[in-house]
Amino acid sequence: MDKRPRKVFVKTYGCQMNVYDSARMHDVLEPLGYSEAANPEEADLVILNTCHIREKAAEKVYSELGKLKRMKRIKAEQGGEMLIAVAGCVAQAEGEEIVRRAPAVDLVFGPQAYQRLPELLARREAGSIPIVETEFPAEDKFEKLNVGGALKRSVAAFLTVQEGCDKFCTFCVVPYTRGAEFSRPVEQIIAEARKLAAQGVREITLLGQNVNAYHGNDANGRSLGLGGLVAELSRIEGIERLRYTTSHPRDMSEDLIAAHAINPKLMPYLHLPIQSGSDTILKSMNRGHTVENYLRLVERVRNACPDIAMSGDFIVGFPGETEADFESTLKVIADVGYASAYSFKYSPRPGTPASEAPGQIPEAEKDARLQTLQALVIAQQTAFNRKMIGRTLPVLLEKTGRQPGQLVGRSPYLQPVHLLAESHLIGKIVDAHITGVGSNSLSGHYRPSV
Ligand code: SAH
Ligand code: SF4
Ligand code: F3S
Repeated sequence: MDKRPRKVFVKTYGCQMNVYDSARMHDVLEPLGYSEAANPEEADLVILNTCHIREKAAEKVYSELGKLKRMKRIKAEQGGEMLIAVAGCVAQAEGEEIVRRAPAVDLVFGPQAYQRLPELLARREAGSIPIVETEFPAEDKFEKLNVGGALKRSVAAFLTVQEGCDKFCTFCVVPYTRGAEFSRPVEQIIAEARKLAAQGVREITLLGQNVNAYHGNDANGRSLGLGGLVAELSRIEGIERLRYTTSHPRDMSEDLIAAHAINPKLMPYLHLPIQSGSDTILKSMNRGHTVENYLRLVERVRNACPDIAMSGDFIVGFPGETEADFESTLKVIADVGYASAYSFKYSPRPGTPASEAPGQIPEAEKDARLQTLQALVIAQQTAFNRKMIGRTLPVLLEKTGRQPGQLVGRSPYLQPVHLLAESHLIGKIVDAHITGVGSNSLSGHYRPSV
């Protein structure tokens, strides 16, 4: 295969798992001579790593493809070439439909085919028709998608440990786009974490669509849950902090809860979506838990780790959601007290049961409910951040900030913290005295200990 130096631009939409996957695509392309392009204009290959979770996310892809088509034409007029590829969850969900709607696209491939990117590219270059690859091959994608050095490393990195979902919530496309739940073997994850540590990574966020459903085998054939995996990873020298996301209330095991009490490297932050505070809605969402289950779980987690920062996801305007159901969601939020939360208007997704359910809620009503919910969440978030003023927090410094001399890091609770410090401290955990709160971040002072 042709290995002349070329440039690839990967544009990432959607969740953190796509961020991880995009980095792996860079790594898999590097041996073919591809380096990272600063913008799509200068790229020989543009990959859109797409998200199908809500209609808006999916539609963005087509407007982007319109722009790329023009770029491709201009490049061709100048005697150059640009390949356009669509990867990710829209690719998986829509497949052939993408090349029908956007004939400038050269390649379409789903999340289970990234390890085959070099072969797919070679096939595209050898022929003249677009390649569409949306099978779920049985081979181990991760084994062939090694972490390389194609991208500059930062202090904090993602590591996918689990992929796919078997839960089939009635609103969600993930079980269709990512396939069945799958856990990577423990040894493979440890090897990847060691590599990251050697590249200067100090904080790892373990990723999975249902990360706490993780159950991978270790070298002795023993099955480890996420709690066990966290214990293994926390022994790696250089790894100072561990996080994980996203968790499902049904999979929160005792050993994972206990890990929050006993493992100082496991950060006090838990993203645990409930989606709705109404049992009726939870049932028609097929969530498999009640509000009571969730609240008791939060209580158990807080008993283990009293200062844990809770985070969640909420959907408003799910089919059949009454005003009373919505009020129940507000009540759960008030009861739990979130440090941060993501909320969305229900978006009907093709092929999911809820999209055909009766009682679809008018857009204006969804808008109004979203605004009410978000106002409550923002008030909670601000209150949570304000509580930090006057405290001293350990901050892992990640990068330089916008102001001269400023560095930005993260508190244990995932809040960005701005402070003045010398850049050689990037990668270090310093004690920061918190003096201010911004809309979404903290500011503080750092006094070097002599
Ligand atoms: N596995 C995670 C969620 C992954 S999807 C869990 O079960 O909690 C991320 C978030 O997108 C979901 O938590 C949900 O709040 C939102 N979401 C998923 N499908 C949606 C849809 N059809 N409309 C609106 N929001 C949706
Ligand atoms: Fe989607 Fe539900 Fe699976 Fe989460 S648990 S990825 S919301 S189907
Ligand atoms: Fe989107 Fe796929 Fe992630 S649908 S949220 S990119 S798993």
